[in-house]
Amino acid sequence: MAEDLHIGSGSKEEQYLSLLPQIKGLISGEPDLVANLANIAAALKEQFHFFWVGFYLVKEDELVLGPFQGPVACTRIRKGRGVCGTSWSQANTVVVPDVEKFPGHIACSSISKSEIVVPLFKNNEVWGVLDVDSDQYNSFDETDAQFLKEIVALIP
Ligand code: SME
Repeated sequence: MAEDLHIGSGSKEEQYLSLLPQIKGLISGEPDLVANLANIAAALKEQFHFFWVGFYLVKEDELVLGPFQGPVACTRIRKGRGVCGTSWSQANTVVVPDVEKFPGHIACSSISKSEIVVPLFKNNEVWGVLDVDSDQYNSFDETDAQFLKEIVALIP
């Protein structure tokens, strides 16, 4: 398929509905993990202009920075630390409307105001997380959680 994204308009749900099949097309038939994570991060950034979107991957007892779009970020996060490490240890999506109110939030950038972290599963084990940061408060809700879960479920 052509490597250009059609930018959807309308509600958040309509934008995700436009993006989802395009991400499916981008990664289908491509077995390389880094290539797929890089394109997912880029597609989310292009569609929603999130401040930061990217992946952290479990390596031994830490999360290590993977493909992302946005400003430079912290490279290593311990299990249970910050929003990412909490999502990993709880094996659950974490939505943070105001990062300053999340105990232990790791501020890679003071510009980030709200955040959502979605764990990546293989055989019921978390092998990484998708982290999305916004420069606005209250950017993420159940719609983001549902669609981001659907998007990461596409990763082979
Ligand atoms: N805020 C995250 C750290 C990663 S950056 O936002 C890119 C956290 O608390 O885990």
